[in-house]
Order: sequence, then structure tokens, then C-alpha cells
Amino acid sequence: MSSPSSVDYLRDEKLTQETRDLISSLPSEKGWLVSKIYQFQGCWHTEALLQGILTCQKHFEAKDSDIILVNNPKSGTTWLKSLVFALINRHKFPVSSGKHPLLVTNPHLLVPFLEGVYYESPDFDFSVLPFPRLMNTHMSHLSLPESVKNSSCKIVYCCRNPKDMFVSLWHFGKKLAPQETADYPIEKAVEAFCQGKFIGGPFWDHVLEYWYASLENPNKVLFVTYEELKKQTEVEVKRIAEFIGCGFTEEEEVREIVKLCSFESLSKLEVNRQGKLPNGIETNAFFRKGEVGGWSDTLSESLAEVIDRTTEDKFGGSGLRFSC
Ligand code: A3P
Repeated sequence: MSSPSSVDYLRDEKLTQETRDLISSLPSEKGWLVSKIYQFQGCWHTEALLQGILTCQKHFEAKDSDIILVNNPKSGTTWLKSLVFALINRHKFPVSSGKHPLLVTNPHLLVPFLEGVYYESPDFDFSVLPFPRLMNTHMSHLSLPESVKNSSCKIVYCCRNPKDMFVSLWHFGKKLAPQETADYPIEKAVEAFCQGKFIGGPFWDHVLEYWYASLENPNKVLFVTYEELKKQTEVEVKRIAEFIGCGFTEEEEVREIVKLCSFESLSKLEVNRQGKLPNGIETNAFFRKGEVGGWSDTLSESLAEVIDRTTEDKFGGSGLRFSC
């Protein structure tokens, strides 16, 4: 790949020879955002994130006390990181103190992204993270490191309706790589998304793997949706807290955390409006509209229907549906 992008994940400078050899044997597609994406264990990845996944699979040792947040990209990662960071640290960092780390640090720097960290710093020592370790990944269930599947660590999976997720990724990509994405028609991107040949895709398989895992093992995987989080944030945050073993007794605490982590609050903070993460992504790129159903300003009715039809085909019989 020869992208002039300033974002680490869009470059291929840190690939090992082993990964380069593997990549040469994988199915590939001309990509949007990056020149090529590769299919590994059923999912399509950029070279950089594939490198991160391979290193993570090889080296990451999960602990029973770990909490791992999982979702497709642009499905509420930033929000979920903030909420869960605030809730597990609520005694160490009371929101009422007015000195919360989220007020001065972007959520992505408080909760490491497994495959991103393994790409940027393959020797990073995860054992230095405070207890309980809180991390996130976009990996499919199939690609999770064995120790994550075999330990008693907790997985919180957040799904977002595919039209909003696609639109969010579309705008994020344009911000990350304006030149590379400028001439790519949205019709072509929707087609590739629905075929599953899109960064991190197929969206629906990713969701279904975790959906079934949550039904099979409800103590291990909690399935939440961005839409429910929006509709009844306090209820969902309490459900997450119960699941990870730190339920709330004080109503006030929940309310304060929800307020601190709201789109309105986080997106106004200086730390989330200015500056870049070490991987080159501008912190404000993670805060756009934060709405449910916002897809309608970007997708035509006919493109929305193409995504809806795919969702009906893929989710038929699973018990999963979206109302927006
Ligand atoms: P939009 O692009 O639809 O606005 P991720 O964090 O997985 O990258 O997802 C980014 C999406 O979540 C963006 O959606 C962003 O605006 C939204 N988002 C970020 N912080 C949020 C928050 N605190 N509450 C609700 N949505 C949030």
C-alpha cells in the first residue's frame, strides 16, 4: 500500500516479514480508504490492523478479571470506553471531584485498543495496566486470542444499526484520508459494505457471532446496542455494571457518569476538540453527531433500502432487528 496518509493504521510501515508473506497468500480487494484490504478468518482488514491482530493473537494473555469492549468500528467505541472506564473507576475517580481523567484525556488514551497497540508497539506490556484491565477490540469472535475465549474475562459487545454505522465510517474515512476517499462514490461503498468487503466487515457476521455467543454464554458476553444506550442510558449502564461485577447502589453515581460521558459533554471538552492521538487521528474525528437515525442526511432512500435488505437477509431468524 502506498498511502500518503498521516494516520498510522492506513500505512504499512510496521509489517513483519511473516505478515507480508501471509498477506501475499490472502484474498484481497481494492479498498475504500486504503488501496487494498485483505480477508483473514472471514473478515476484511487493512494491512496495519491485520498485523495488530496477528501479534495480539500470538502474545495477548487474558486474565479472568479483564474487561474487553468489542464492536464494529463507529458503533460507539468512544462512548462505551468512557462509560465503562468511569464506572469501574468511580471510587478512585469520583465524578463529583471535578477532576476526572475523562475531563483531560481522550477516552482512547484511557482504554487501549488491542490490535492498534500491538501494531504501533508490538512489545507493549499489557501487564502494566491498572486492575481490572479494560481494553477494546474490533476483532471478530472467531479472531479473538484463545486466552480471551478460554479465560473468564468479560466481553461487552456494542452493536449499532448498520446504516448509522456505515454513514459514521463514511464520514470518518473522509476526515482521515480526504484525498484518498474524495472520488469514491457512495453507491460503490454501500455495495462493498453489503458484500462484506469493507474494513472490518462483514458487519452482520461480526454482530451475529457475538449475538450467538451472548445467548450461549450470557455470563461471558453481554450484548448491548447503541440505540438502547441512547434511549435508556442509565438502565443500560446499570446492566453493564452488574455484568462486570460492580453494580450500583447509588442512583446519583449513575446519573453523574451518564452525564459526564454524554456526547454533549465529551464533545465540548478541549481535549476532544483539539489535537491528535499518537496514531495521527484527530481527537475530534470521534465526535460527529452522535444520533440514532442520522444516516438519512447521507444515504438516499434507495441506498438505505439496499442496506435494509441485506440486514433482513442476514439477521433473518436470529431474533435481532433494528427499528431505525
Ligand atoms: P456519528 O458519526 O454517527 O456521529 P466510535 O467511537 O466507535 O468510533 O463511533 C463514533 C460514533 O459514535 C460517532 O457517530 C460519534 O459521534 C458517536 N459518539 C462519540 N461519542 C459519543 C457519545 N459520548 N455518545 C453518543 N455517541 C457518541
